[in-house]
Amino acid sequence: MTRRTVRIAMNGVTGRMGYRQHLVRSILALREQGGLNLGNGETLWPEPVLVGRREHALRALAERHGLTEWSTDLDAVLADDTVDIYFDAQVTSARVDALTKAIAAGKHIYTEKPTAADLAGALELARLAEEKGIKHGVVQDKLFLPGLLKLKRLIDGGFFGEILSVRGEFGYWVFEGDWQDAQRPSWNYRAEDGGGIVVDMFPHWEYVLHELFGRVTSVTAHVATHVPRRWDEQGKPYAATADDAAYGIFQLEGGAIAQINSSWTVRVNRDELVEFQVDGVHGSAVAGLRGCRVQHRSATPKPVWNPDIPVTESFRDQWQEVPDNTEFDNGFKAQWELFLRHVTLGEPYHWDLLAGARGVQLAELGLRSAAEGRRLDVPEVSL
Ligand SMILES: NC(=O)c1ccc[n+]([C@@H]2O[C@H](COP(=O)([O-])OP(=O)(O)OC[C@H]3O[C@@H](n4cnc5c(N)ncnc54)[C@H](O)[C@@H]3O)[C@@H](O)[C@H]2O)c1
Repeated sequence: MTRRTVRIAMNGVTGRMGYRQHLVRSILALREQGGLNLGNGETLWPEPVLVGRREHALRALAERHGLTEWSTDLDAVLADDTVDIYFDAQVTSARVDALTKAIAAGKHIYTEKPTAADLAGALELARLAEEKGIKHGVVQDKLFLPGLLKLKRLIDGGFFGEILSVRGEFGYWVFEGDWQDAQRPSWNYRAEDGGGIVVDMFPHWEYVLHELFGRVTSVTAHVATHVPRRWDEQGKPYAATADDAAYGIFQLEGGAIAQINSSWTVRVNRDELVEFQVDGVHGSAVAGLRGCRVQHRSATPKPVWNPDIPVTESFRDQWQEVPDNTEFDNGFKAQWELFLRHVTLGEPYHWDLLAGARGVQLAELGLRSAAEGRRLDVPEVSL
């Protein structure tokens, strides 16, 4: 085995996503397993160069993990010809500027979603990347979760017959921050700082629906700011100016209807923090992050509506668990591996900046639908 090094500038690694999922669970996990076996006699060794604004935080993080390279000077890192890839997990509002610079510097790009604040900005990034001829990828981690991989397996195996509808329920209670700390950053609740649940979650719903069931062709959304006052990381009260709940209906190519509730203001009475129920003519499934349960038409009970008599059967017990049948890796790491193979071996990869732009488009149209109180068509985007 020969070792080939790929140097990755990682910006925003002191944040929630950048640290846990991308640095620790993906890049450092790859190093712990001895690198990525490329299958051609070569092992790819990812070498992170940590980038951020706060020197002490970066130094502490690097020391904790035995890393030696970190910098607060993004321009200098981008000017370094030995750096191959620029990765971005910064706050959303800082993303376009950094990605634009990195593309201009000729780096390959891997980035968190949403890629930009609006569709025009997202498409511009995709255009710049294509013109420069660099490789680019956008995080679409939900596709690589065990629950959704099992759902995909059911679809590919023809389990559902015609798929009629998808109902998604996402959410949990995010503490206001006064008597218990909030478990999400405060910028998520300020529209002026790139916050809001539509901007955060609609990009995920776009690729989940698109890849599993069909492209979204129209959106109807209603949004709310149910909790208008929250407390920030310093314990100071602030006005929550962004939506904290969104109720969306999506028409899909092929005819299925999806309805997804997204909320940071609900308490969980589900098995998982997100669940999708898919109803088809031949069977139904409920998929979460990890699990997936099914009910075939042959095992479907025949309830009769009669509120005068108590329920005599446990409907939830009538579903069957789909077995793993394989080992599932962390979803973020699985997508990193595919991106690194794309960069080094030129293997196909379609979760790119154009795919990221479709997510931004759905968020933009979702917010506009809510503001105008009407259903909006979702035109196909291209460069
Ligand atoms: N794929 C997913 O499931 C998923 C989940 C959550 C968040 N995200 C995305 O990841 C990105 C980061 O989200 P997070 O929850 O980790 O946020 P976070 O607030 O925890 O981290 C933000 C990071 O950006 C840095 N930063 C750079 N410029 C900043 C500025 N001007 N103000 C404040 N911080 C700045 C911070 O230092 C920190 O490292 C967002 O774009 C978000 O949409 C993706």
